[in-house]
Amino acid sequence: MLLSAALTVVLASLARPTLAQDENPNIVYDSAHNATTIYGTWSSGSKAVLTGAGFANPANMTFTYPKTTGVSYSFSQNGYYEISRYRFNSNGSEPTCITGVIGWVHGTYTLNNNGSISMIPLGDGFQQIQDPCAAVSNFIEVYNYTEYYKGWRIFTDPTQGFKLHLFQFDGSPVAPLFQVSTTPNMLPTTVLRNVPTDPTIARRSASSAPDALGPHWVMGVMGAMTLVVVSTSLMLL
Ligand SMILES: *[C@@H]1O[C@H](CO)[C@@H](O)[C@H](O)[C@H]1NC(C)=O
Ligand SMILES: *[C@@H]1O[C@H](CO)[C@@H](O)[C@H](O)[C@H]1NC(C)=O
Ligand SMILES: *[C@@H]1O[C@H](CO)[C@@H](O)[C@H](O)[C@H]1NC(C)=O
Ligand SMILES: *[C@@H]1O[C@H](CO)[C@@H](O)[C@H](O)[C@H]1NC(C)=O
Repeated sequence: MLLSAALTVVLASLARPTLAQDENPNIVYDSAHNATTIYGTWSSGSKAVLTGAGFANPANMTFTYPKTTGVSYSFSQNGYYEISRYRFNSNGSEPTCITGVIGWVHGTYTLNNNGSISMIPLGDGFQQIQDPCAAVSNFIEVYNYTEYYKGWRIFTDPTQGFKLHLFQFDGSPVAPLFQVSTTPNMLPTTVLRNVPTDPTIARRSASSAPDALGPHWVMGVMGAMTLVVVSTSLMLL
């Protein structure tokens, strides 16, 4: 066991520089751009929301609700990502209708040469929406949207350490993410539930409510996260 652990360390140290170079020659891992690599687990705010075990059970599409809202991203050196999110969305025209959204997704990511990140889901992502004012106030649905982030930067925060900034497709920032661990804390990087492979079934489920709950809606909510957190806390005062 000791031997295999030592071997893993040796292999990891051999693999690391090669991977970083092959992966993306234009992303410079220096202090001017990125204070460290993106690999590992990152979490916003109080770090109550984390990827890995203890947040989502993809096999039966259930969640263990964290104490507070937040978002967490993990990136592995071999190209896998995982995202956990929990947030409240307030409705301007119906201030008492605060919608809760909790979601989980994983898949493969690419650090593109122009500094963007593309994330392709594996198909077993899902989210639960609790909307006290909707006809169906609580439902769970498949979440299988490709996500595109315009850019990313890693800074060093004087008190919290490494801090990752992700910029969404429209340039709006994700809440600052702090490094929780340098090795990613993730569920197995395989499909964790039977998902329809028949393209007609997949297409039908993916387009069940494209306007109401499609990528724009979800991205919009993510973009508004800071605002929502602010307005939610104002509302609670
Ligand atoms: C879902 O799976 C988790 C993990 O196996 C288990 O702890 C939980 O009880 C299950 N929940 C339901 C409603 O089946
Ligand atoms: C806000 O609430 C109104 C009335 O219930 C609803 O029609 C509208 O779709 C809601 N907007 C959002 C963004 O949820
Ligand atoms: C950046 O690269 C990705 C992947 O090649 C591409 O999809 C995207 O359109 C590019 N963005 C810009 C602004 O060129
Ligand atoms: C999930 O989305 C990816 C990327 O668009 C696609 O390749 C895959 O077939 C989808 N899976 C399901 C089960 O819809």
